[in-house]
Amino acid sequence: MRTVTTLPELRTARLSLKGTVGLVPTMGYLHEGHLSLIRQARAECEHVVVSIFVNPTQFGPNEDLSKYPRDLERDLSLIEPLGVDFVWTPTAEVMYPTGYQTWVEVEAITRPLEGSMRPGHFKGVTTVVAKLFNGVQPHKAYFGQKDAQQQTVIRQMVRDLNFTLEVVVCPTVREADGLAMSSRNKYLEGENRQAALVLFHALSAAKDLYEKGEKSAEALRTKMKEIIEAEPHARMQYVSCADFDTLEELEQVKGKALLSMAVLIGKTRLIDNFILG
Ligand code: PAF
Repeated sequence: MRTVTTLPELRTARLSLKGTVGLVPTMGYLHEGHLSLIRQARAECEHVVVSIFVNPTQFGPNEDLSKYPRDLERDLSLIEPLGVDFVWTPTAEVMYPTGYQTWVEVEAITRPLEGSMRPGHFKGVTTVVAKLFNGVQPHKAYFGQKDAQQQTVIRQMVRDLNFTLEVVVCPTVREADGLAMSSRNKYLEGENRQAALVLFHALSAAKDLYEKGEKSAEALRTKMKEIIEAEPHARMQYVSCADFDTLEELEQVKGKALLSMAVLIGKTRLIDNFILG
């Protein structure tokens, strides 16, 4: 399996692929969630490209960019058996050379939820994803449902900028006890690992309530808040019950809705979501 870094190397590798190409964009430190995206791409496309790039522009000044887990050798050994054509591992200098000054910014749907807590985050995500799409020219791109708002934002960007590719969103992969897989789970130690289950428990409780007939979004938000507040290691950043497409908070759940939350467990920030309807 080849790895390429520079843009000329990427162009040569891409030109050698004839037929449909699936791209799995990642920031590395791969887990079963990423591998499931690669497997789905493998099943649906003639060729698969994985990108590994810890994108500095999507991290805020007080976030975990320098600590973000990295292990390229381990990542490549996990990808190797999956039949990937090549892995693109650009450096920050390749993506943002000196003098860089072009950004892609999606508006309204980037403001609530993650956008309200992480100013500038989605501008970094959409810029780098647009650059990954331009570099690899995939027919399909694969993302996980755990980053629900990110995937809504990317879909909007794809529509607005006339990218001719399909965004495929695959189900969240969970540990046996329900914790959504995330590279940041590596930070969870001791009691915090157990405490992190509060996200899954709160979402499950709200979903149960909804399935028993509760359609008030406020009642569902309150249920999630109560469960998070009862966990001493958890600090809630937000809970939401929003329209699936617009991400606007709902009063009543009528159509498809997104239950989502961000919670600090110790110093580790976790997000998770369930879809209703
Ligand atoms: O979801 C991620 O891992 C990142 O946000 C992405 C899409 C690879 C862009 O850096």
